[in-house]
Amino acid sequence: MTYNEIRKTFLSFFEQHGHKIVSSASLIPNDPTLLFTVAGMVQWKGVLQGIEKPIAPRVANVQKCIRAGGKHNDLEDVGFDGRHHTFFEMLGNWSFGDYFKEEAIAMSWELLTKVIGLDPNRIVVTTHISDDEATRIWKQITGKDAIRLDKDNWWSAGDTGPCGPCTEMHYDFGPDVPGGLPGSPDEDGGRFVELWNDVFMQYDRDANGNLTPLPKQNVDTGAGLERWAAVLQNKTDNYDTDLFVNLKQAVSDLTGVKETDENKCSFKVITDHLRSVGFAITDGVIPSNADRGYVIRRILRRAMRHGQMLGHRGALLSALYPALVREMGDAYPELKTQQEHVVEIIKNEENSFADMLQNGMKLLESELPKINNNVLPGDIAFKLFDTYGFPLDLTQMILRDKNIAVDVDAFEKCMQEQKERSRADTRGTKLLWESQNELPNTIDTEKYAGKSEKNATVLSILRGEEFVKSADTGDTVEIALDHTPFYGTQGGQVGDSGTFTKNGTVVMNVTETNRAGNVVVHKGTLTAPISVGDEITPEINQNIRQQTARAHTATHLLQAALRTVLNEDVEQRGSKVAPDSVRFDFSFGRALTADEKQAVEDLVNKWIAADMPVAHEEMDLESAKKRGAMALFGEKYGDRVRVITAGDVSCELCGGTHVYHTGEIIKARINKEKSISSGIRRITMSVGALAE
Ligand code: ALA
Repeated sequence: MTYNEIRKTFLSFFEQHGHKIVSSASLIPNDPTLLFTVAGMVQWKGVLQGIEKPIAPRVANVQKCIRAGGKHNDLEDVGFDGRHHTFFEMLGNWSFGDYFKEEAIAMSWELLTKVIGLDPNRIVVTTHISDDEATRIWKQITGKDAIRLDKDNWWSAGDTGPCGPCTEMHYDFGPDVPGGLPGSPDEDGGRFVELWNDVFMQYDRDANGNLTPLPKQNVDTGAGLERWAAVLQNKTDNYDTDLFVNLKQAVSDLTGVKETDENKCSFKVITDHLRSVGFAITDGVIPSNADRGYVIRRILRRAMRHGQMLGHRGALLSALYPALVREMGDAYPELKTQQEHVVEIIKNEENSFADMLQNGMKLLESELPKINNNVLPGDIAFKLFDTYGFPLDLTQMILRDKNIAVDVDAFEKCMQEQKERSRADTRGTKLLWESQNELPNTIDTEKYAGKSEKNATVLSILRGEEFVKSADTGDTVEIALDHTPFYGTQGGQVGDSGTFTKNGTVVMNVTETNRAGNVVVHKGTLTAPISVGDEITPEINQNIRQQTARAHTATHLLQAALRTVLNEDVEQRGSKVAPDSVRFDFSFGRALTADEKQAVEDLVNKWIAADMPVAHEEMDLESAKKRGAMALFGEKYGDRVRVITAGDVSCELCGGTHVYHTGEIIKARINKEKSISSGIRRITMSVGALAE
């Protein structure tokens, strides 16, 4: 049976048994305790806890899952065996206070042995040591004695929340495959593979570990589709099943390398990581330096390293994405509809890491002969991290083959020191820059176009507290140019990031852009030497620019919506506009009701859907006032001002970057509304892909 056939068979079996079939929830859970959706039950957590009403008493689905961070993390193991994945699909059925142990076990058994036709003699079952009832049911239905285990047969999604004893069904590949029974010391050998887990959700665990019985007895089951495919296709390695064989073929076609015993780990890593990166970005994760964005960035960089090990240079996952769409686009149409956008994001991410990967590997190789006791010093791992963007786990992965560890404590210490230095830097460098009074005004030379028609000249380089004539690879520096397309952080809007290239090679990754007086200061780490007088091509990351622009225009719509829904006294008191996310502080005396919040969000989305034009105009302050442009409380403005007008709903003085049609914002979603001080409320909102 192929993946497509298994999905269909599973769902139609449970449909025949009275279950409502629902589609997969997003990989981004609506749950602050989890980075990703790690199981089918995540979207039902509130239902299991008795807080939310179920949509039906019996439900089944196929759920996209990522286990690559937090309590459920399989990242380190991918590639080394045939079982582990960061992304996988979980087949699941649920009873919300409807059937319980007896019927759940009977249905699992019927599907495994009667419908998909597995040999009953090859199935081994386990139950929790405390669960006499499930043990008795197994005996009664199948004549089998369950193996009784403790921790392995207790399941919870996070440290708190619904949990309970479970019973697992394992498939026996037979004595030719090494490995022991579940619960034995060599259970990981591969002979027995867990096929299905039926959890009897009976308790709610609080932060102190106390268990309270749930209002209703529920069933939550989960079965790994990849493992079912392996068993049904008689493969001991999930990566030899139809879907992966086709994805691996795409890797071969792209790289020109055939899979062998020596390189098969790379084939597994790349195909697995293609799925987690592709699906996560489709669901709105943007690679970044924090939280789930950093998990995806790390996974993508690990994949690139394996591409490099196959001798491949250039686009990897972005070039393989069409193969993912071919394999999985029918089951998950969102892969198709978002293809262009996702490929673009992956490409940007690959471009910014490609040169760093080559150069970082050179550094690492030059350090290897100096290593003592098989431990890489922490400062080298830190330099790889800081200068070349090697996440710690990437360095560890590279060294794992060579049996070399990283001095993680020393690495953490370097991180800490750098944080302190950078805190001191932000205090210090503004004054230093302001003393450079010969520098030209570079704030609006390109009218925020974000594109440079011509190269720029390096005018000043600040390293530490010293202006220098030139700086070297690895140095963290701040640079001023004669003109720049970069928007420097201002008025609550986070500045652009991007690159400087010289003769086609990236010389600096610009990670932060600030302003000192009228000068835009670009901060980043050099990937090649640079000198005052050098001609470079400044290029902003257009994707991040677009995400920031839509967040900024959305902020204006949010303010207009608040004034419409609440009252005209609402005034902005501060904001932070970042890629696809907005924090907006405003004057208002009480918490918003749920209805008001919804009305504000709906209004913003209505304006987005209306795709109103957004005009960007410069004029004198008087004309702007006549227009009725809103100004910021307490802000001083010059004679010439910029006015941003969105349709007929918003007109504000603003120096930031904006979209040209409200439709570009795609969608807005209010996440939180809270008080930050007396009379001031704060709303956080996601827009664009993040909101979707
Ligand atoms: N939630 C259970 C699991 O993930 C079914 O194994």
